[in-house]
Amino acid sequence: MKKEQPQSNSKLLNWIDARFPLTTLWKSQVSEYYAPKNFNFWYYFGSLALLVLVIQIVSGIFLAMNFKPDGNLNADGLPVAFASVEYIMRDVSGGWIIRYMHSTGASFFFIVVYLHMFRGLIYGSFKKPRELVWIFGALIFLCLMAEAFMGYLLPWGQMSFWGAQVIINLFSAIPVIGPDLSVWIRGDFNVSDATLNRFFSLHVIAIPLVLICLVVAHLIALHEVGSNNPDGIEIHDNEDENGIPLDGIPFHPYYTVKDILGVVVFLIAFCGVLFFAPTGGGYFLEAPNFDPADPMKTPAHIAPVWYFTPFYAILRAVPSFLNTQVWGVIAMGAAVVLIALLPWLDKGEVKSIRYRSTIFKVAVVLFVIAFIGLGILGAMPATDLRTAIARILTFVYFAFFIGMPFYSRMGVNKQPPARVTFSTTRQKVMFFVYVAITLVVAYLFATNI
Ligand code: HEM
Repeated sequence: MKKEQPQSNSKLLNWIDARFPLTTLWKSQVSEYYAPKNFNFWYYFGSLALLVLVIQIVSGIFLAMNFKPDGNLNADGLPVAFASVEYIMRDVSGGWIIRYMHSTGASFFFIVVYLHMFRGLIYGSFKKPRELVWIFGALIFLCLMAEAFMGYLLPWGQMSFWGAQVIINLFSAIPVIGPDLSVWIRGDFNVSDATLNRFFSLHVIAIPLVLICLVVAHLIALHEVGSNNPDGIEIHDNEDENGIPLDGIPFHPYYTVKDILGVVVFLIAFCGVLFFAPTGGGYFLEAPNFDPADPMKTPAHIAPVWYFTPFYAILRAVPSFLNTQVWGVIAMGAAVVLIALLPWLDKGEVKSIRYRSTIFKVAVVLFVIAFIGLGILGAMPATDLRTAIARILTFVYFAFFIGMPFYSRMGVNKQPPARVTFSTTRQKVMFFVYVAITLVVAYLFATNI
């Protein structure tokens, strides 16, 4: 029997609906997807992550039109890949802005995703029934790291080359298969043209494809169970006679409009960096990467880009027992895997940090200090003092996860409210704060800062 389709005034829409469930999909996923009415600032970062994903894909397509993944030297003695990026920056019309959109976009992707993950952490969005939303998120994070790492090799600058050299060499520390594995990844005994070619292929097609599929799965899983909110209580526990949550509002138009505000503020910040500080003070694009890769000249200080530095600091903090670096590599891998295990590590009854025990709040604060501290230390050359601090922070990082099954049951939680809390005054104040920030930043741009 044919399913009944919604009827509209548009003949074209009816024609499509008879062949494809467009209106049904739009209603179930957008205009009749009921989201909690109390979303706050932290809920901007999901839609912003989608925006940056689109920016990266579109700018990447245009970059690929002129980029040449070739590590051989041209007639001027420059690696072809490096020279093709210079060509994009200097000779291709609008090439500089596309390149900086992509390189700044990579850093903004991580800023947005780290804040998005932090939101999940403080509001307990990884807890039942959203475990799969979180797992898909953790896989996205892993793909994002692989994508950024491979992308950074492509301009074939000094940091591209030596950064890849250091990280791929880590795999050789794995017992038995390590040395063969690192040759397999590089496609050669050293980082070379073969490595550049395969990283290009993986960076432009394989990983983005997986990433897009994972983002779709992430959203399907989220829409299956519904969104969490800053109070961490389920809106579907209180529904009217039609099954509509009493504290829910349709995603469209309410949150589509709210998200547009987030997009405007975000784009102002993004353009600020893009036009006035595209290298992010040497953190988004490191200075040695403006020199062509030279296998005969090691840069004085090799450090990954800022978004990898917390994990890099953990790697360096672990001493090499029995003459092998493998423990550092294991610790670095474990630091990422533990994030994925949060739904099973947290045994607390309450989701949102608003109602959780003081001990949990203190643990979160210490974790943030450890993560940021490790990030800062990982970007600096190691000294004895810095290594000692990095060891303490690494301990705090792991204690946060490994101790969670214990401390998350301890202390006294507050009783969460039966219905979500919503303050129109707070919403109005936040709106004026965003508008004020936007106007101040726009004024600074207009007057050239
Ligand atoms: C390309 C990267 C990502 C994109 C495009 C993305 C997109 C989104 C979107 C659009 C939402 C719904 C809106 C919102 O709640 O903010 C969402 C929710 C969520 N995401 Fe992501 N996400 C990404 C990465 C991640 C990562 C890395 C994690 C965690 C490891 C994660 C965990 C979550 C969770 C737990 C929710 C539900 C939040 C709630 O209901 O409170 N996401 N994501």
